[in-house]
Formats: sequence, C-alpha cells, structure tokens
Amino acid sequence: MNNTILVTGGAGFIGSNFVLQWIANADARVVNLDLLTYAGNRRNLQSIEHHSRHVFVHGDICDESFVASLLREHQPRAIVHFAAESHVDRSIAGPAAFIRTNITGTYEMLQQVLRYWQALPEGDQSVFRFVHVSTDEVYGTLLPGEPAFNETTPHAPNSPYAASKASSDMLVRAWHHTYGLPVVTTNCSNNYGPWQFPEKLIPLMVLNALEGKPLPVYGDGLNVRDWLFVEDHCAAIRRVLEDGRIGQTYNIGGNSERSNIDVVTAICDILDELRPDPSIGGRRNLITYVKDRPGHDRRYAIDATKIARELNWVPEQPFESGIRKTIEWYLAHLDWVNDIRTGAYLNWIEQNYAERLAQ
Ligand code: NAD
Ligand code: DAU
Repeated sequence: MNNTILVTGGAGFIGSNFVLQWIANADARVVNLDLLTYAGNRRNLQSIEHHSRHVFVHGDICDESFVASLLREHQPRAIVHFAAESHVDRSIAGPAAFIRTNITGTYEMLQQVLRYWQALPEGDQSVFRFVHVSTDEVYGTLLPGEPAFNETTPHAPNSPYAASKASSDMLVRAWHHTYGLPVVTTNCSNNYGPWQFPEKLIPLMVLNALEGKPLPVYGDGLNVRDWLFVEDHCAAIRRVLEDGRIGQTYNIGGNSERSNIDVVTAICDILDELRPDPSIGGRRNLITYVKDRPGHDRRYAIDATKIARELNWVPEQPFESGIRKTIEWYLAHLDWVNDIRTGAYLNWIEQNYAERLAQ
C-alpha cells in the first residue's frame, strides 16, 4: 500500500490547515478531495500547490464511482473525512445541502471505503484507518454549570447541521460495528484561526470591526462556546490517526469557554490597539444585539480528558494569544478576504442579517 492518505474537504478551513500542517510535519503524500463549494478555496493551499506530496482533486464525495476510482488509483492507507456543510445559520436557511453532503456523502464514502478496505491484503487492512471529523454540536446544549460533554454523552442534536453530523456519526459507528471498518471519530469544539471563512463569528467580527460596521451579536450574547485554535485541532487529529483506538470516539476541546460577548469585546479591544481609527472610535460601540438564531444552543463545553490520557494530546494555544494571532493573520491577508467577499458571499450576508439588523 502507498504511503498516502486521502483527505476530504481539504480546501476548507480546518482541512486546509490540516493539509498544510501535514505536509510540514509528516512524510506521507496527501490526496486532497474537495468539491470547492463556496467554503472551499484553493488559495488556502497556494503554498503547496506544486508540492510533490500534495495532489489536489476536484470532486464530490457523493459521487460513488468517482470516489471508488480515486481509492483504486491512490491506494491510501488512511482517510481523514472533513468534507461537510458546516455553517449552522445556512443549515437553518437551507437544510437540503446538509442532508446531501453530511449524511449521503458520508454514506457514499463509507460504502466505497468499505469495498476498498475489504479488498486489501490482510496486513494492509490492519493498518488502515477512517477518521471521521465531527463536532460537539451533536451532543446538544448545556446549562451553565452542567458538566462538559464527554464521549458517553448521548447525541441530542438541535440544528439541522447538528442533526446531519449526528447522523453521520451514527453511520460511521454502524459501519464499524456491522462490517468491521476500522474507524475512529472525533467530536471537536469551535475552531478559530487562519483561513476561516468570513461568515463565522470570529472572522466576521474582526472584519466588521476593522471596517467600522455593526457587530451583530445574536440574542443576549451570553451563549458559550469552547474555543480551540485550529492548529491544535489538526495536531489532535494527527494523534488520533496515529494511535487512536479503532471504534472509539475522542472529544477534542480548547478548555476555553467564552461567552460570545466576551469574544467580541476581546476582538474590539485588540483591534483598537492594533488599528486605532478616530473615525470609528472605540469599537465596543459597534456592538449591536440582533434577533437570535432559532433554536440557538446555549452552551457547549468539551471534556477532553480521554484524548489527554490515551493519546497525550492537550491544547497548546491559550485563547488570549490565539485570538491575537488570528486577528493579526486576517490583517495580513485582506487580499484573501476580499477575493471571497464577492457576489455569493454578499448575498448570504444580506439574507442572514438584513432582517436581524432591522430589529
Ligand atoms: P468548511 O465549511 O470550512 O469546509 C468544508 C470543505 O468541504 C470545503 O472545502 C468544501 O468545499 C468541502 N465540501 C463540501 N461539500 C463537499 C462534497 N460534497 N464533496 C467534497 N468536498 C466537499 O468546514 P470546516 O469548518 O473546515 O469543518 C471541517 C469539518 O470539521 C466538518 O466536518 C465540520 O463538521 C467539522 N468541525 C468543524 C468545527 C469548526 O469549528 N469549524 C468544529 C468541529 C468540527
Ligand atoms: O461547536 C463546533 C461548531 O462550531 C462546528 O461544528 C461548526 O461547523 C462551526 O460553524 C461552529 O458552529 P457555531 O454555530 O458555534 O459557530 P458560529 O461561528 O456560526 O457562531 C458562534 C457563536 O456566535 C454562536 O453562538 C452564534 C453566534 N453568532 C454567530 C454569528 C455568525 C453571533 O452572535 N453573531 C453572528 O453574526
């Protein structure tokens, strides 16, 4: 078997960070399968465009014959499955794409990977892994003070996105339990860092605050997320791929719970320091409370003691330095941002915020 891994969704936010980190730190080739939806961007991978160990393939995980021939051609020893529709607000506005990619797409991957794995020689079968990258949102919501989600917390998804990811977790579990496919699942908390598409909370707030635009905080701003720097998440996935136990689930988190309003005020203060602008004034004044997300989960928190104990992984980047690094990254990559913020992106912003801001 080749020393090759197949990554799906490797032109998106976490996938591209993973592929960049992999090329810098590991010796295997990466075949990177991505449909290049609005969230996928080959510019994220520009620095490794001509790298001998990176092969980009434009294609759809839902296309079974395409996936089968890709597996035959490249003979990977592992799959890391990131490809998904990932934005909760978009899942509320239009769930169909989430059902297709996250459920049907994962099913098609599992079926094709199972056939490929069953045909491998025994020695190759035993080293093969399918790592399924999932989210803490499958566990539902917590009240303040409730214990964090651990790997035995039952799935109780609340948004169409979370339900589609929970379904994919169940399919992965069943393909292991029934057919013996060597899978490992990860459930991670909110990521932030370089290359995050500017419709998610942190990049959206950085860019609006930079430009003196309103900062739309949903509801009362007291919803809590557990923030993890994306490079820490990628390092955790590499550990899971190396030594994760087959059939197990590993929760991954930043141990960094913050309310949304605390995240937004931190961004305002750092930008006031890095890019003071008298025409904008103190950026906290831009904070605008807007209509809440329907079914908005109140709090997520991850208990990551299992991955620390078994795989010796802990997050390295504290939130305070990670958020500063992230803001500095966006300030240095405004050309990347401006390339993205064109027609389709602007239509989404209009659809999501016009009615909310009118409140
Ligand atoms: P993203 O939306 O930035 O990237 C998704 C990528 O998948 C894009 O490059 C897109 O083009 C590709 N894609 C979509 N449909 C496809 C298809 N049918 N075939 C092939 N490629 C397709 O997402 P992200 O934030 O990088 O998340 C990656 C994974 O990690 C997802 O599975 C998500 O559920 C999970 N996750 C994300 C977070 C987070 O905070 N962003 C946290 C935990 C888990
Ligand atoms: O928890 C992991 C999940 O984190 C991932 O599985 C998802 O793929 C990822 O998108 C993220 O989901 P969230 O819904 O938590 O992320 P988002 O950036 O959309 O929102 C973070 C919080 O900020 C959430 O409570 C909603 C709030 N919010 C978001 C936006 C875009 C606002 O208050 N205003 C906004 O404009």
